[in-house]
Amino acid sequence: MTAQGKITASFDAAAARADFPILSRLVHGKKLVYLDSGASAQKPRQVLDAMSEFAGTDYANVHRGVHYLSGAATDAYEAARRTVQKFLGAAREDEIIFTKGGTEAINLVSYSFLAPKIQPGDEILLSVMEHHSNIVPWHFLRERQGAVLKWVDVRDDGSLDLEALDAAINSRTKLVAITHMSNVLGTVTPLKDIVARAHAKGVPVLADGCQGAVHELVDVQALDIDFYALTGHKLYGPTGIGALYARRAHLKAMRPFNGGGEMIREVTRDIVTYADAPARFEAGTPPIIETVGLAAALDYLSGFDRAAVKAHEQDLYAYARSKIGELGWARVIGDAPGKGAILSFEAEGMHAHDLATILDREGVAVRAGHHCAQVLMERFGVGSTTRASFGLYNSRADVDVFIAGLRKAREILG
Ligand code: ALA
Repeated sequence: MTAQGKITASFDAAAARADFPILSRLVHGKKLVYLDSGASAQKPRQVLDAMSEFAGTDYANVHRGVHYLSGAATDAYEAARRTVQKFLGAAREDEIIFTKGGTEAINLVSYSFLAPKIQPGDEILLSVMEHHSNIVPWHFLRERQGAVLKWVDVRDDGSLDLEALDAAINSRTKLVAITHMSNVLGTVTPLKDIVARAHAKGVPVLADGCQGAVHELVDVQALDIDFYALTGHKLYGPTGIGALYARRAHLKAMRPFNGGGEMIREVTRDIVTYADAPARFEAGTPPIIETVGLAAALDYLSGFDRAAVKAHEQDLYAYARSKIGELGWARVIGDAPGKGAILSFEAEGMHAHDLATILDREGVAVRAGHHCAQVLMERFGVGSTTRASFGLYNSRADVDVFIAGLRKAREILG
């Protein structure tokens, strides 16, 4: 054991931490303790360098020029697609659509795949622990086309009731849209079982993998899933870039989303015809440098033994969970077996924002609020929670500073 925490045989968290320049800065004169990776993870220098080097040597617009740099940039952009393909275990690179994030990926499925299939009364099945990005696109279909949103509850410990989900799928169900990992509870859903149950009734499944892809190994072929959305900035990559995995058969039948350059085959005064996927869904100049950054982030993460990274994060969570339990005045929300390293809690007599403000003065960054999950807040009867979310660079020493900050907040606010 070191001050940074446990070094597993194949993952040295302290060495990894040194890759992240921002983690050595001070905040309010205190050493930064960054526990907000669930909102956005920090970037290692490998990602920062890859973006800067690409911008300084090979940058130009993609798929548009015959000149050398356009070719080099296009090669880098398409290589990034293959990196995402490999990361998700997709069979084909053209099943990967670049989007500006997880939200846009889910909106794409809503608009291009599902909307044309929806008749009034058709159902979309969601869990109550979805992020708004996996709720609002379906509300659009409720408002505009009369779809019905059906909700699967979670148990009091935050785990998903698979039997209840199965029972809720019926002949009107057009899609199951579910998180891979809750951004509030940390619950990891049994995606393979969910897909099997839904497919047995002919219903496709979309997973919001914005948190899940960071902490779990994903193999879309093994999952047999229809759609999987991820975002770059939670994966130690840049903002403005994400991806949608979509099964080839679905993509072929999906209508275009945004219209513009590069997504067409031909445009005349009277008609327009469209390119095949992925170009069909990537109108306009994409975030090219960010796409290169995303690939660098996935390479960075994949360079570790992912099981060892997960074990490290689980160790941090277990340590933080036991320490917060010792306080006696914090109610943890989300204790599902096998959950990921996200710790949300309500502190007796203290508003989450006040608590987060005091922690901030100690250099500790956490998130406070409803976490874009108001349906879940209602389920647990809370308006907001404080959330510590862990990344591969965190340490037990970070947890100690966090717990000390909580004790201080109790003295001030309690
Ligand atoms: N979805 C992000 C979070 O959970 C922003 O904080």
